[in-house]
Amino acid sequence: MDRITEVQNEALSAIESAQSPEELQQVRIKYLGKKGSIQALMSEMKSLPKEEKPVFGQKVNLCKQAVSEAIEKAQAQLEAKALEAQLIKDKLDITLNGTKSEKGTMHPLHMIQQEIEDLFIGMGYKIAEGPEVEEDYYNFELANIPKDHPAREMQDTFYIDPNTLLRTHTTAMQMRELEKAKGQTPIKLICPGKVYRRDDDDATHSHQFTQCEGLVVGEHITLADLKGTLEFMANRMFGEGRQIRFRPSYFPFTEPSVEVDVSCPFCNGKGCNVCKGSGWIEILGAGMVHPHVLEMNGFDSEKCTGFAFGVGLERVAMLKYGIDDIRNFYINDERFLKTFDRFD
Ligand code: DAH
Repeated sequence: MDRITEVQNEALSAIESAQSPEELQQVRIKYLGKKGSIQALMSEMKSLPKEEKPVFGQKVNLCKQAVSEAIEKAQAQLEAKALEAQLIKDKLDITLNGTKSEKGTMHPLHMIQQEIEDLFIGMGYKIAEGPEVEEDYYNFELANIPKDHPAREMQDTFYIDPNTLLRTHTTAMQMRELEKAKGQTPIKLICPGKVYRRDDDDATHSHQFTQCEGLVVGEHITLADLKGTLEFMANRMFGEGRQIRFRPSYFPFTEPSVEVDVSCPFCNGKGCNVCKGSGWIEILGAGMVHPHVLEMNGFDSEKCTGFAFGVGLERVAMLKYGIDDIRNFYINDERFLKTFDRFD
C-alpha cells in the first residue's frame, strides 16, 4: 500500500516538473504505459492474499485515475503555454511599412475596345476576328476595289506579295463574314482589330492602328437604323446628349457613303478649340453596303440591305481621354500608361 502512495507521489511530482508536452509524454509512458509503474503494481496484486486484493486494487485504480487526471490537466496547461509562446514568436507588426508591388493598368485602347464590345454585345451583335495578314481579295477585291481602282491609293498598303498584304482596314473582315454567310441573313456583328498603312508616323498618323468594323444585313435595314445605332454608341462612349450628323462621302463598298460627326463632347456643340469652333467632331466612316458588294458575296440585293461602319479606336480614345498624340498608344511610356489606373 505504501508503494502505491509512493508511486503516485513520484508520478505527480514528475508531472509537475515536466516542461513540455514531450516531457509529459515520457512521464505518461513511465507511469501509465503497458510496462509502466502503475501496471507493475497491478501485477503485484496476484501475489497478495485474497482478502487484501479488493482494497489494493481499488487503491491502485484511484492512483491511476489521479495520475491520469493530473497528466490531462498538465497537458492542457503546457499546450496553452506552447501556443502562447508561438503566438509571441509569430507576432506580426502590422504597422511596419510593406513593400508595394507594382500593378499594371489596362491599355487605353483595350479599354475602348472592351467598352465598344460590351455595348454592341448588349444590342445582340456578335464579335468576329480575323487575320491581320490578309489576302488582297478580301481587303480590296470583294470590297469593290478592283486592281486598277483609284481608291487603292486612298490606303497606302504594306504588300507582302502581290496577293498578300497587311490589312488596311477591318472592312476585310466585313467581306470575310459576308462571304461566310452565303447569302443568309440576318448578320449583326462587329470586328475589332489592328490595321496597317504605309503612313509616316506623326501626332495624328500611325502605321499601325485599331479599327472596329460594324455590319448589319437583313431585310428593311435603312440609313435610319445606322443613325440610331451610331447615336446610341456616341452617347455611351462620350456621354448622354450627343448628337450625330451625316455628311456625304465616298467609299467604294458603300452607297450612299457618309462621314459621321458627333456633337462636340467638350463644348456641347457650342464651339471650342477641340472641334475648331464647329461644334462637331468627325469620328467615323459608314454607309449602306453597296449592292454590288452584296451581290459579289452571294446576297440578293433586291431582298436585303445592310449598313456598315468603320471606327478608329485611337481617335475615340484620344477624344475621350484628351490624348493629343496617337504615338502615345504605341511607345509604351509607363508614365503615360499609368495615368489610366484612374479608370480601374
Ligand atoms: N474602311 C474605311 C476606312 O478604313 C472605314 C469604313 C467606311 C468602313 C465606311 C465601313 C464603311 O464599313 O461602311 O477608312
